[in-house]
Amino acid sequence: MSKLWSGRTSGAIDEAAEDFNRSIRVDSRMVRQDIQGSIAHAKMLAAQGIITPEDGEAIVDGLNGILADLEAGTLAVDYEAEDVHTFVEQTLTERVGEPGKRLHTARSRNDQVALDTRLYLRERVEKTGDLLRAFVRALCDRAGEAKAMVMPGYTHLQRAQPVTMGHHLMAYAMMALRDLGRLADASRRMDVSPIGCCALAGTTYPTDRQLEAELLGFSAVAENSLDGVSDRDFCVELAAALSLVMTHLSRLSEELILWSSWEFKYIRLSDAYSTGSSIMPQKKNPDMAELTRGKTGRVYGDLMALLTMLKGLPLAYNKDMQEDKELIFDAFDTVDACLTVCAPMVGTMTFLPENMRKAAAAGFINATDLADWLVGRGMPFRTAYKLTGQIVEECAQKGVALEDLPLEAYRARSELFDETLYDAINIDACLLRRTSLGGPTPESVERQIKIVKELLK
Ligand code: ARG
Repeated sequence: MSKLWSGRTSGAIDEAAEDFNRSIRVDSRMVRQDIQGSIAHAKMLAAQGIITPEDGEAIVDGLNGILADLEAGTLAVDYEAEDVHTFVEQTLTERVGEPGKRLHTARSRNDQVALDTRLYLRERVEKTGDLLRAFVRALCDRAGEAKAMVMPGYTHLQRAQPVTMGHHLMAYAMMALRDLGRLADASRRMDVSPIGCCALAGTTYPTDRQLEAELLGFSAVAENSLDGVSDRDFCVELAAALSLVMTHLSRLSEELILWSSWEFKYIRLSDAYSTGSSIMPQKKNPDMAELTRGKTGRVYGDLMALLTMLKGLPLAYNKDMQEDKELIFDAFDTVDACLTVCAPMVGTMTFLPENMRKAAAAGFINATDLADWLVGRGMPFRTAYKLTGQIVEECAQKGVALEDLPLEAYRARSELFDETLYDAINIDACLLRRTSLGGPTPESVERQIKIVKELLK
């Protein structure tokens, strides 16, 4: 294909340089958005009398024909073209002749690519939002089933205090809700039309940027043409939001990997989301969770690459910016792929509550409750804390739980102790008494599920 830009140059570009320069393998994904933007542009040009109504109609019909043929599979993207904009414009001109050559009036690929990217990413945010919502629903459903399954909560990966599996899963639902909010927020700031900024300095034609923005469903237009063509903040913001999605999925993955190990055995992953080993017949591996954890680095890399690409660029457009699409597309592809397996992986895992309970029974996760019981008898917390620590140490040495230490042993350490201490340190009782807002009880988990489901609507 010939170049859109062979205005000044007459010598041919080197073949390797031409391929190096090409972005169609990446940006052909935006072909529908490029056509959509071009249709709006042609309509605006005709409405403003910049081209004739007949030329406008010929262009719009031609573009609709290209779109229809691409969708029907009777027209293929030409990967020899430099980029998607070149492909669409040249195909149009081949089909409709002279009017096709008028489409690029009062437009540049610089505002065109900024427009296409925003239009394309707007749709990707919607799709990722749907996947995130499905993930949150899966978490809520499983949390409802597991609202009374007592397990140890951890700090430093050491057993700390009793929680429920439902409580633990809902923590991830809260993270995903914030992820949805961040994506929506970035999307709202992206809702600004750059088209009409042209190459960098606007145009002498009497364009109507407002009309074009309205035709494309934008709520506002970029108010500074230099900013309009050089702004890629939206790519960075979206990549940052997606990086946090991956952080959350990766932390969950790490827990699923731990929980499905022989050492924990709190869950069993469905065969549909596990793999085996080619040599060890007994193996069942959590590959989907590991891959999700592993792919997190890719998305962070996309974010870092975007930031680094932008940091030294003078205004306005620079070719460096062509790199933006491969990075932000990869970030969306990766997050969507991870969410697509993570939601049903959570949805189909089997809980093993008896093992959670066994773990909750060991590890002195009721020690805080014992100290609190002493506080109830008038002992200052710091003193109670110290005394409980000594009792824990005695139990650890004897290899018994706090609830198995006889009353005489307790009374040998403090006259305050009586029979009722055993009710206070019963694991179920310890859990049910944690009634503070946001806590781990079945009622609290139910409340959290209700709130999250309400917010999802
Ligand atoms: N393929 C280019 C990109 O993705 C389109 C814009 C090209 N503009 C230019 N002046 N060379 O950034």
